[in-house]
Amino acid sequence: MLDTARIRQDFPVLRKTDCGELGIYFDNAATTYKPQTVIDAVMAYYTEGSVNIHRGEYDRSFAISEAYDAARAKVARFIHADPHEIIFTSGATASMNLIAMGYAEAVLQPDDVILTLESEHASSLLPLMRVASKTGARIEYIPLLDGGRFDLEAYKNALHDRVKLVAVAHVSNVLGYILPIAEMARLAHSVGAVICVDGAQSVPHLKTDVTGWDIDFLSFSSHKMLGPTGLGILYGKKALLDQMDPVLLGGGSNARFDRTGQLVLKGTPYKFESGTPAIEAVLGLSAAIDYLEGLGMDAIYEAEHALKARMVQGLSTLDHIVLYNADAPTGIVTFNVKGIPAQDVAFYLNANGIMVRSGNHCAKVLVDVIHTPDTVRASLAFYNTPAEVDRLIDVLRSVTLEACIAVTIA
Ligand SMILES: Cc1ncc(COP(=O)(O)O)c(C=O)c1O
Repeated sequence: MLDTARIRQDFPVLRKTDCGELGIYFDNAATTYKPQTVIDAVMAYYTEGSVNIHRGEYDRSFAISEAYDAARAKVARFIHADPHEIIFTSGATASMNLIAMGYAEAVLQPDDVILTLESEHASSLLPLMRVASKTGARIEYIPLLDGGRFDLEAYKNALHDRVKLVAVAHVSNVLGYILPIAEMARLAHSVGAVICVDGAQSVPHLKTDVTGWDIDFLSFSSHKMLGPTGLGILYGKKALLDQMDPVLLGGGSNARFDRTGQLVLKGTPYKFESGTPAIEAVLGLSAAIDYLEGLGMDAIYEAEHALKARMVQGLSTLDHIVLYNADAPTGIVTFNVKGIPAQDVAFYLNANGIMVRSGNHCAKVLVDVIHTPDTVRASLAFYNTPAEVDRLIDVLRSVTLEACIAVTIA
């Protein structure tokens, strides 16, 4: 079991929260807080010489280049990949655009099918929709069960030999359900499709094994797993990455070129990384992975699962709360208060020192499936406490439309 009181000492912002200077943070699916070790790693880069990598013939550059390369190897080990299969991008969104533009656009033919879900994030669906319109491929949706749950049988029925790409989030950012990703990969491959997984909400919370699951692509963001912002990761099977062209060209990714435009790119993954990368963010991510591994991903999952169960248990005793994903096994709790717009509830919670998110959470197609345009989302992290969960339940116990309006217009 995690020692949350001790863990909270590792996060400067949580020390402030515990002193009452800051509110309770339940928007961890948007981005997480950072431990001191991550902040120190970023600061050390800036205070001890913010030099470039792989360009300078001096000791500091050698040292930072080595640390940068070691970070790539650490990310690879964390998800059970090879370092050559790890591309650093600016975020999960950039990773998914790279799959869409660098892979899908090159391979998809008219009438090929991209199979996806209505619960997907805009950062997945929008790049896919553009690819479909450029290539003449079609998007088909795996029917979701009422309430937005995934159904393996529906997936099996939706697969056919025109499906060339299956694109799904391992964990939905609205409903928090976990997809059976290894089984889905096996089935996708049985019809000759490639599976690309949005891991933005899964990699920070669950053990990840791209090799064991045999998935083809995985996108995720550093800032949702205790690391710095401005950094994403794209994992791709080496053979697929080798056949892809980079979207960006420039310094760092080319081996040589001449005045006629003859260009020889570097190998995978370097051909995808043009320009100076977010060096300090990569070093910070390395510290974030150390921190996560120090706690253990199983322990993290269990802690978040227990907090979620407590929140669901408490909220389900309140008749005026509608819960959308009580049975989801991850730390995302999505709900509404009957008769009060989600945004007003979020303002009211904020006025009571609790930070949550309201709206459609960038999953704009899902609203038709769960039959509500907006919800309130409380997303938990292992550093949240049972007392914080109880406080949310207490505040919601007495919420009224009048109180929300008073806060909103104040
Ligand atoms: C499921 C999912 N995919 C993709 C993204 C995009 O991540 P980023 O904004 O870090 O690029 C998010 C962010 O909330 C997400 O929840």
